[in-house]
Amino acid sequence: MKLPSRRIIALFSVAALVVSACSSSTTTTAPGGTNAPGGTNAPGGAVTQVEVVSWWTTGGEASGFNAIIDKFNADNPTIKVTNSAIAGGAGSNAQAALTTRVVNNTPPDSFQVHMGHELLDTYVTPGFMDNLDDLYTANGWTTQFPKGVLSIVSAADSAGTVHYYSVPLDIHRANVLWFNKTVFTANNLTAPTTWDQFFTVADALKAKGITPLAVGDNGIWANGMLLESILISTLGADGYNGLWTGKTDWAGANVTTALNTYKKVLTYVNTDHSSLSWDQAADYLIPAPAGAQPKAAMTIMGDWAAGEFDAKKFTDYGWAAAPGTDKIYDALADSFGLPSKATNKDAVKKFLTLLGSAAGQDIFNPYKGSIPANSTAGTPPAGAKQYSTYQTWAMGEWKGDSIVPSVEHGAAASPAWKGAFEAAVTMFVANPDVPTVQTALVQACKDAKVCK
Ligand code: GAL
Repeated sequence: MKLPSRRIIALFSVAALVVSACSSSTTTTAPGGTNAPGGTNAPGGAVTQVEVVSWWTTGGEASGFNAIIDKFNADNPTIKVTNSAIAGGAGSNAQAALTTRVVNNTPPDSFQVHMGHELLDTYVTPGFMDNLDDLYTANGWTTQFPKGVLSIVSAADSAGTVHYYSVPLDIHRANVLWFNKTVFTANNLTAPTTWDQFFTVADALKAKGITPLAVGDNGIWANGMLLESILISTLGADGYNGLWTGKTDWAGANVTTALNTYKKVLTYVNTDHSSLSWDQAADYLIPAPAGAQPKAAMTIMGDWAAGEFDAKKFTDYGWAAAPGTDKIYDALADSFGLPSKATNKDAVKKFLTLLGSAAGQDIFNPYKGSIPANSTAGTPPAGAKQYSTYQTWAMGEWKGDSIVPSVEHGAAASPAWKGAFEAAVTMFVANPDVPTVQTALVQACKDAKVCK
């Protein structure tokens, strides 16, 4: 896979959130075989507490992460990994809290961070992370992770030597359209492959009193991801990549077309979108009670939605590439690293070793809706949770598609630029005036020092 060149731009523009916890690793003693508070049973031994922060609090996200943590804790009775999760899809709350903790030298022992700009600009370039070269060498990861993945979890030092800074746990696809199969069959509809088809399908649904598209943008990223998909479909992989490298003009006619499409799409969404989280919106496809008409027929969401459906035991869903984006994989990946100020680094490295391994990835990803980042994973042992039909499809697409980086999930642009993109989207959702928002997007690229 090939990603556009990255830019190292301004950091720490994220507003500080109140930080609830500032502990790092501690070691507690479990005397005489009793459980240390919150710890595992280590007869007469010490239990090393390892605090990991993620934003996985719901559905398949929580189940998958808990499953891998439980496995680790069971295999390592002297270490207790705890997930101090901060709710808010796409890290909408966790990222600011994490930045504050890291900058204040009270980081958790490890934390969820997207590969690419989010990792490199925010944490690696300013020198907050230890490199993980020893883990990469010991585990053979330099040949197990795809080259494109390796290139965005690494950075060169002043002598030009490349170092690895985080361990990718999954690969997600952001541009997926999900639909309720029964609703589609009952109305003789098929998954739209272009935006024109989308509008035809949406009109048919509307005529039947069914909300066409569920959106939950109480975190604006979910709406921004919709625009991301529309930009990809309108500009193609190269054109979209060029938006983030300065090769594609944000003032161009294609961007205007994309914004006009986006404006129209927004007229087909649920009226309560701004009060819903992404998972509440995805749940609008699930009839409640069973047999009832679902609140909406489609949603466009990353494939963590598959993990959500699975966790809710909802199987009556179909999927397709978001309209106009067939054979383009809008990618992002969650990874975990080692902050320089973590205290029990050996224990953290043990946990990271499981996260990067094929065995660990085959525990986590089947719940999550994602595909493994480690290319030697993909076949969980018999009796374990297996990959879904969707995931098998996604694994095939990953191998053949053009890969583009997601802006909303930290891969395409610096955190500051992503913030400006989201500000423009917020403005557009409130008042969809195409010229105003296009001007804001042009300016955002200039402010990021990528456009002149
Ligand atoms: C993404 C993250 C996914 C999933 C999603 C919704 O940013 O990479 O793993 O958690 O947010 O919260």
